[in-house]
Amino acid sequence: MRIEAFPDDAWAAAVAARWIRRLHAQPDLVMCLPTGATPRPVYSMMAAAVIAGTVSFAGAQVYLLDEFGGLAPDDAGRCDAMIDRHLVGRIDLPPGSLHKLDPDAVDIDAEAARYGAALRQAGLDLTLVGIGVNGHIGLNEPGSSAESTARRVELASSTQESMRRYGAGHSAAWGLTLGMAEILQSAEVWLVATGQSKAAIVAAALKGPISSAVPASLLRQHPKASALLDQSAASALGG
Ligand code: GLP
Repeated sequence: MRIEAFPDDAWAAAVAARWIRRLHAQPDLVMCLPTGATPRPVYSMMAAAVIAGTVSFAGAQVYLLDEFGGLAPDDAGRCDAMIDRHLVGRIDLPPGSLHKLDPDAVDIDAEAARYGAALRQAGLDLTLVGIGVNGHIGLNEPGSSAESTARRVELASSTQESMRRYGAGHSAAWGLTLGMAEILQSAEVWLVATGQSKAAIVAAALKGPISSAVPASLLRQHPKASALLDQSAASALGG
């Protein structure tokens, strides 16, 4: 896995510049995107680039990585609300080109299976993932195997706690997520992490044992995965 650390104040611009180059090279890019706090500065820069006319999402497809369950449809902490607020509502992605998991589906298992199948058929070119303080990616909590597919998951207490940062009215006890299998099938994966609070888990994921105990470590088995970190998140990696 390629590890790249950027000065804290230059991280977002570096990731955005790389993403813009990727979209220029392949305007019909099929992407899977996370929510959470980490990508927000990158999303702001992508929105500004669209407004400036230097990049376009008009030919792209976006699949949302995960979704919290049991929240009101208008809860600000839902992933669909966050991706709309921070990116999709600010760019030129056609409405039909955003794909998401429906946590209000009557049959949750069927919904997860539908999404996984749709995504496998589309074929992901690029997947961005954040990392939870317990090493989760998407909502693949510790214990998720490399073979896990899109499914309903029960959320770890640290995940429920971190949701409070998102302005959610309530904490979710469960969620829907793409599995590790679908993430690992993406042609390219970028793990993004910033801040001192992620330093220890980033070191565990990138330098510790490759194990489902730290799902993010499974990305090291991917042939084209990169960790794009700011210096604070990279600070426990050592030389
Ligand atoms: C959350 C989200 C993930 C996100 C991760 C890190 O629980 N479900 O998609 O990538 O945890 O979040 P943050 O970037 O806010 O630290």
